[in-house]
Amino acid sequence: MELGSILDVLDKKTILVTGATGFLAKIFVEKILRVQPNVKKLYLLVRATDIKSALRRFQTEAVEKDLFKVLKEKYHTNLQNFLSEKVILVPGDITCENLGVKESFLKEDMWRDVEVIVNTAASTNFRERYDVALDLNTFGAKSVLDFAKKCINIKLMLHVSTG
Ligand SMILES: NC(=O)c1ccc[n+]([C@@H]2O[C@H](COP(=O)([O-])OP(=O)(O)OC[C@H]3O[C@@H](n4cnc5c(N)ncnc54)[C@H](OP(=O)(O)O)[C@@H]3O)[C@@H](O)[C@H]2O)c1
Repeated sequence: MELGSILDVLDKKTILVTGATGFLAKIFVEKILRVQPNVKKLYLLVRATDIKSALRRFQTEAVEKDLFKVLKEKYHTNLQNFLSEKVILVPGDITCENLGVKESFLKEDMWRDVEVIVNTAASTNFRERYDVALDLNTFGAKSVLDFAKKCINIKLMLHVSTG
Protein backbone atom coordinates (compact mmCIF):
# COMPACT_ATOMS: atom_id res chain seq x y z
CA MET A 1 0.00 0.00 0.00
CA GLU A 2 1.46 3.39 -0.95
CA LEU A 3 1.80 6.16 1.65
CA GLY A 4 -0.61 8.36 -0.37
CA SER A 5 -3.44 5.88 -0.06
CA ILE A 6 -2.75 5.36 3.67
CA LEU A 7 -2.95 9.15 4.14
CA ASP A 8 -6.28 9.16 2.29
CA VAL A 9 -7.63 6.48 4.63
CA LEU A 10 -6.52 8.47 7.71
CA ASP A 11 -7.95 11.75 6.40
CA LYS A 12 -10.68 13.03 8.80
CA LYS A 13 -10.73 9.71 10.67
CA THR A 14 -11.33 9.31 14.38
CA ILE A 15 -9.02 6.71 15.86
CA LEU A 16 -8.83 5.13 19.31
CA VAL A 17 -5.36 3.94 20.31
CA THR A 18 -4.90 1.81 23.43
CA GLY A 19 -1.57 1.43 25.23
CA ALA A 20 -0.81 5.00 24.20
CA THR A 21 2.21 5.34 26.53
CA GLY A 22 3.77 2.21 25.01
CA PHE A 23 6.67 1.94 22.59
CA LEU A 24 4.68 1.15 19.45
CA ALA A 25 1.69 3.41 20.11
CA LYS A 26 3.79 6.51 20.78
CA ILE A 27 5.54 6.07 17.44
CA PHE A 28 2.22 5.42 15.71
CA VAL A 29 0.57 8.52 17.23
CA GLU A 30 3.50 10.81 16.43
CA LYS A 31 3.62 9.55 12.85
CA ILE A 32 -0.10 10.08 12.26
CA LEU A 33 0.08 13.63 13.66
CA ARG A 34 3.14 14.35 11.51
CA VAL A 35 2.13 12.83 8.17
CA GLN A 36 -1.65 13.23 8.34
CA PRO A 37 -2.49 16.35 10.38
CA ASN A 38 -5.99 16.17 8.89
CA VAL A 39 -6.79 13.18 11.07
CA LYS A 40 -9.99 14.20 12.87
CA LYS A 41 -9.39 12.97 16.42
CA LEU A 42 -7.11 10.60 18.27
CA TYR A 43 -8.57 9.14 21.46
CA LEU A 44 -5.63 7.84 23.47
CA LEU A 45 -6.41 5.32 26.20
CA VAL A 46 -3.88 5.58 29.02
CA ARG A 47 -3.82 3.85 32.40
CA ALA A 48 -4.47 6.66 34.84
CA THR A 49 -6.87 7.60 37.61
CA ASP A 50 -8.35 10.62 35.80
CA ILE A 51 -8.11 12.76 32.64
CA LYS A 52 -5.56 15.11 34.21
CA SER A 53 -3.17 12.28 35.08
CA ALA A 54 -3.67 10.66 31.66
CA LEU A 55 -2.77 14.00 30.04
CA ARG A 56 0.27 14.34 32.29
CA ARG A 57 1.45 10.84 31.36
CA PHE A 58 1.05 11.55 27.63
CA GLN A 59 2.97 14.83 28.00
CA THR A 60 5.88 13.42 30.00
CA GLU A 61 6.11 9.98 28.39
CA ALA A 62 5.52 11.02 24.75
CA VAL A 63 5.37 14.72 23.89
CA GLU A 64 8.41 15.70 25.95
CA LYS A 65 10.55 12.97 24.38
CA ASP A 66 12.82 13.44 21.35
CA LEU A 67 10.26 11.48 19.33
CA PHE A 68 8.15 14.67 19.10
CA LYS A 69 11.11 16.86 18.05
CA VAL A 70 10.00 17.18 14.42
CA LEU A 71 6.47 18.17 15.44
CA LYS A 72 7.88 20.70 17.93
CA GLU A 73 10.00 22.21 15.15
CA LYS A 74 7.01 22.33 12.82
CA TYR A 75 4.47 23.86 15.21
CA HIS A 76 6.73 25.76 17.68
CA THR A 77 4.49 27.37 20.30
CA ASN A 78 1.34 26.13 18.53
CA LEU A 79 2.06 22.46 19.24
CA GLN A 80 -0.11 22.38 22.37
CA ASN A 81 -3.01 23.99 20.46
CA PHE A 82 -2.63 21.45 17.66
CA LEU A 83 -2.52 18.59 20.18
CA SER A 84 -5.53 19.82 22.10
CA GLU A 85 -7.45 20.07 18.83
CA LYS A 86 -6.57 16.51 17.78
CA VAL A 87 -5.86 14.46 20.90
CA ILE A 88 -8.28 13.39 23.62
CA LEU A 89 -6.80 11.55 26.59
CA VAL A 90 -8.95 8.77 28.00
CA PRO A 91 -8.10 7.23 31.39
CA GLY A 92 -8.89 3.54 31.23
CA ASP A 93 -7.89 -0.08 31.52
CA ILE A 94 -8.58 -2.68 28.83
CA THR A 95 -9.14 -5.45 31.37
CA CYS A 96 -12.27 -3.66 32.61
CA GLU A 97 -15.75 -3.46 31.14
CA ASN A 98 -16.04 -0.65 28.56
CA LEU A 99 -12.24 -0.31 28.79
CA GLY A 100 -12.65 1.05 32.30
CA VAL A 101 -13.81 4.43 30.95
CA LYS A 102 -15.79 6.00 33.80
CA GLU A 103 -16.63 9.37 32.23
CA SER A 104 -19.94 8.71 30.45
CA PHE A 105 -19.50 11.69 28.08
CA LEU A 106 -16.19 10.19 26.84
CA LYS A 107 -17.73 6.74 26.38
CA GLU A 108 -20.67 8.13 24.45
CA ASP A 109 -18.45 10.35 22.27
CA MET A 110 -16.27 7.35 21.44
CA TRP A 111 -19.21 5.03 20.67
CA ARG A 112 -20.51 7.70 18.29
CA ASP A 113 -17.26 8.89 16.67
CA VAL A 114 -14.58 6.20 16.66
CA GLU A 115 -14.01 4.67 13.22
CA VAL A 116 -10.70 2.88 13.76
CA ILE A 117 -9.32 1.13 16.86
CA VAL A 118 -5.67 0.19 17.23
CA ASN A 119 -5.08 -2.04 20.24
CA THR A 120 -1.47 -2.10 21.40
CA ALA A 121 -2.17 -2.34 25.15
CA ALA A 122 -0.48 -5.45 26.47
CA SER A 123 1.98 -6.89 28.90
CA THR A 124 5.26 -7.36 27.07
CA ASN A 125 6.80 -9.07 30.06
CA PHE A 126 7.27 -12.57 28.72
CA ARG A 127 7.77 -13.90 32.25
CA GLU A 128 4.39 -12.48 33.33
CA ARG A 129 2.19 -14.54 35.67
CA TYR A 130 -0.05 -16.70 33.49
CA ASP A 131 -3.35 -15.35 34.89
CA VAL A 132 -2.21 -11.72 34.54
CA ALA A 133 -1.02 -12.27 30.94
CA LEU A 134 -4.23 -14.12 30.05
CA ASP A 135 -6.38 -11.38 31.56
CA LEU A 136 -4.58 -8.59 29.70
CA ASN A 137 -3.30 -10.03 26.42
CA THR A 138 -6.24 -12.33 25.71
CA PHE A 139 -9.37 -11.16 27.56
CA GLY A 140 -8.21 -7.53 27.29
CA ALA A 141 -8.12 -7.88 23.50
CA LYS A 142 -11.64 -9.39 23.66
CA SER A 143 -12.84 -6.47 25.73
CA VAL A 144 -11.44 -4.03 23.10
CA LEU A 145 -13.36 -6.04 20.47
CA ASP A 146 -16.54 -5.79 22.57
CA PHE A 147 -16.01 -2.03 22.81
CA ALA A 148 -15.49 -1.84 19.01
CA LYS A 149 -18.87 -3.54 18.50
CA LYS A 150 -20.52 -0.64 20.36
CA CYS A 151 -18.92 1.97 18.08
CA ILE A 152 -21.62 2.66 15.52
CA ASN A 153 -19.21 4.02 12.88
CA ILE A 154 -16.44 1.43 13.31
CA LYS A 155 -14.66 0.47 10.09
CA LEU A 156 -11.52 -1.24 11.31
CA MET A 157 -10.07 -2.75 14.46
CA LEU A 158 -6.37 -3.55 14.40
CA HIS A 159 -5.02 -5.76 17.19
CA VAL A 160 -1.25 -5.80 17.54
CA SER A 161 -0.64 -9.24 18.90
CA THR A 162 1.85 -10.33 21.48
CA GLY A 163 3.77 -13.60 21.71
N1 LIG B 1 7.78 -3.42 20.28
C1 LIG B 1 7.85 -4.24 19.25
O1 LIG B 1 8.83 -4.25 18.46
C2 LIG B 1 6.72 -5.19 18.94
C3 LIG B 1 6.81 -6.04 17.85
C4 LIG B 1 5.76 -6.91 17.57
C5 LIG B 1 4.63 -6.92 18.37
N2 LIG B 1 4.59 -6.11 19.43
C6 LIG B 1 3.40 -6.18 20.27
O2 LIG B 1 2.76 -4.89 20.25
C7 LIG B 1 2.13 -4.65 21.50
C8 LIG B 1 2.69 -3.35 22.10
O3 LIG B 1 4.09 -3.45 22.25
P1 LIG B 1 4.97 -2.29 22.88
O4 LIG B 1 6.39 -2.64 22.60
O5 LIG B 1 4.43 -0.97 22.47
O6 LIG B 1 4.68 -2.56 24.44
P2 LIG B 1 4.91 -1.59 25.68
O7 LIG B 1 5.91 -0.53 25.38
O8 LIG B 1 5.16 -2.49 26.84
O9 LIG B 1 3.49 -0.88 25.85
C9 LIG B 1 2.38 -1.55 26.34
C10 LIG B 1 1.33 -0.51 26.65
O10 LIG B 1 0.16 -1.18 27.12
C11 LIG B 1 -0.31 -0.48 28.26
N3 LIG B 1 -1.11 -1.33 29.14
C12 LIG B 1 -0.68 -2.36 29.89
N4 LIG B 1 -1.71 -2.88 30.57
C13 LIG B 1 -2.81 -2.14 30.24
C14 LIG B 1 -4.17 -2.18 30.63
N5 LIG B 1 -4.64 -3.10 31.48
N6 LIG B 1 -5.02 -1.27 30.08
C15 LIG B 1 -4.58 -0.34 29.22
N7 LIG B 1 -3.29 -0.25 28.83
C16 LIG B 1 -2.42 -1.15 29.32
C17 LIG B 1 0.96 0.00 28.95
O11 LIG B 1 0.61 1.02 29.86
P3 LIG B 1 1.45 1.35 31.16
O12 LIG B 1 2.47 2.36 30.68
O13 LIG B 1 0.46 1.93 32.09
O14 LIG B 1 2.08 0.08 31.65
C18 LIG B 1 1.75 0.49 27.74
O15 LIG B 1 1.31 1.77 27.36
C19 LIG B 1 2.44 -5.88 22.36
O16 LIG B 1 1.38 -6.79 22.24
C20 LIG B 1 3.71 -6.43 21.73
O17 LIG B 1 3.91 -7.81 21.99
C21 LIG B 1 5.60 -5.24 19.74
